[in-house]
Amino acid sequence: MTAMSLLSLVACFVAAFAAYRLYVAYRVRLTAQQHGCQAAARYKHKDPVFGLDIFLRTGDAITKNQFLVEHQRRYDAYGHTFEALNFGSRAIYSVHPENLRAVFSKNAADWGIQPLRLRNMSPFCGTGFITADGSDWKISHDLLKPSFHRSNISDFGPLEEHLRLLLEQIPTDGSKFDLQPFILKLYLDMGTLFLFGESIGMLSGTPPSHAQGFLDAFQAGVNGCGLRIALGPLNFLMPKGAWLKACGNVHEFAKVYVDRAIEYRNKISSVEDSQAKVHQRTLLFNMAQQTDDRTILRNQTVQAMMASTETTASLISHVIRNLASNPDICAHVRAEVLALGDAPLDFDQLPRIKSLQHVITETLRLYPVFPQMNRVSLKDIVLPTGGGSDGTAPVFAPAGTLFDTSFSTLHRDPKIWGPDADDFRPSRWENDYSPPPFTFMPFGAGPRQCLAQQKATMETSYVVSRILQEFSGIKSEDEKPYQAQVALTAKSAHGCLVSLTPATEQIVE
Ligand code: HEM
Ligand SMILES: *[C@@H]1O[C@H](CO)[C@@H](O)[C@H](O)[C@H]1NC(C)=O
Ligand SMILES: *[C@@H]1O[C@H](CO)[C@@H](O)[C@H](O)[C@H]1NC(C)=O
Repeated sequence: MTAMSLLSLVACFVAAFAAYRLYVAYRVRLTAQQHGCQAAARYKHKDPVFGLDIFLRTGDAITKNQFLVEHQRRYDAYGHTFEALNFGSRAIYSVHPENLRAVFSKNAADWGIQPLRLRNMSPFCGTGFITADGSDWKISHDLLKPSFHRSNISDFGPLEEHLRLLLEQIPTDGSKFDLQPFILKLYLDMGTLFLFGESIGMLSGTPPSHAQGFLDAFQAGVNGCGLRIALGPLNFLMPKGAWLKACGNVHEFAKVYVDRAIEYRNKISSVEDSQAKVHQRTLLFNMAQQTDDRTILRNQTVQAMMASTETTASLISHVIRNLASNPDICAHVRAEVLALGDAPLDFDQLPRIKSLQHVITETLRLYPVFPQMNRVSLKDIVLPTGGGSDGTAPVFAPAGTLFDTSFSTLHRDPKIWGPDADDFRPSRWENDYSPPPFTFMPFGAGPRQCLAQQKATMETSYVVSRILQEFSGIKSEDEKPYQAQVALTAKSAHGCLVSLTPATEQIVE
């Protein structure tokens, strides 16, 4: 084909697409008028047809660890709700609590994730709670739920065991180090233990030979899913070979455990020791009670691994970071932890350390683990607010509209949190303060809300309390301002640089 004819082909395509867009815009305006809807503020695109500029800007912000800052800037410029183009189709960005209530809770059935994720992620993890809507989502949700019941998450024995390995490995002579990689290792161990019934051995220093290969493959698998979703209609640009190979490696790894869980289930009645108890509480084993379809079990486990890798670890690292940079608050929390004396750190005692709960909640406010969340409308639907010149009219969201929200912007809105919204001030949670609905959503809301909320916050309380028992001082060694690195979760881009002073008090074992 000559360059000329290629050019005219492209021109034709763009023209046809622009005409189609005009038609869609016309239809949308007509239906919207019938519902009293008005347009929200429009993002000022450089590319008015596909809106590729916003895509490139977001990509650039991610690589510079400015993703959250970029989103904040957009909301500062356009208000709580605005519209933009997403590869030529419609996207609505909103941090208005009424819209969040509608999308995540009230009309949750009309807003899904499957059109965004299933096709892009299926070769990695198939159908499951992360990729499906409707009845497929419900099946996964029901399969997972019992594993998060208090009876199955309240044994801190294995966590203590692994935490001791961590404590043996970190410098305790007051020298500066990064705690974040250690916490991430702790949670690779805890995550695999909870999912598969066997720790991957990152902290014990004797990781099984297949462990590192698995972790690399898992990372490559997740990254591939992320890139395919981000590329949207352009995802054919991503070469698939290496990604599919990584997916295969993850499947092989998971298969070993799936086979073991089914085998174990079949002989369970004859085993009655403490090891058996640990196994009975694992997610895979719990699911194997309900189905023996190996592909379903494998896909669900890979999805659970995505939800558990990095999440609790990111929270713990941010909590320690905040304690390190706020010595007075840290001393206060530590005093409360020590005041418990030799009471066991368990589900009854940990919530009594009020100042620690406030520190964790305030950390989730300013540093949400999943700072950004999205949905797509599954049918023509009306959002309650955000349209018109004053931003209060309903907004029309025709089927296929992307809804994108930023919890980090929501959680820092001065209209909700006051003029000190950006400050770390755990005392704002005192006296059982509870913010208005849909203004604080670190674990999501509605039917898809995190099943592991209690597990994650209790374990964070446990680990932080134990560190405060072992060390009388946690000093921040990070001189740079905070930056979030956003991939699967949001982590501190500089890690958690601290130095520790061992406690001289008698520690009650
Ligand atoms: C601090 C740690 C964590 C935070 C902040 C967190 C946050 C979230 C959020 C925001 C959602 C909602 C997603 C959406 O609306 O699309 C979610 C869902 C979920 N999370 Fe977590 N998560 C954490 C830890 C974990 C862990 C450790 C696990 C598993 C071991 C887990 C399992 C799940 C599951 C299964 C769902 C989906 C529930 C469903 O769709 O039925 N989470 N999480
Ligand atoms: C499981 O995942 C594989 C690919 O990983 C996919 O082909 C298959 O359809 C999935 N099955 C289910 C039941 O999710
Ligand atoms: C905990 O796990 C067991 C299986 O080991 C399961 O039967 C039970 O339903 C779970 N606990 C609760 C109360 O949901």
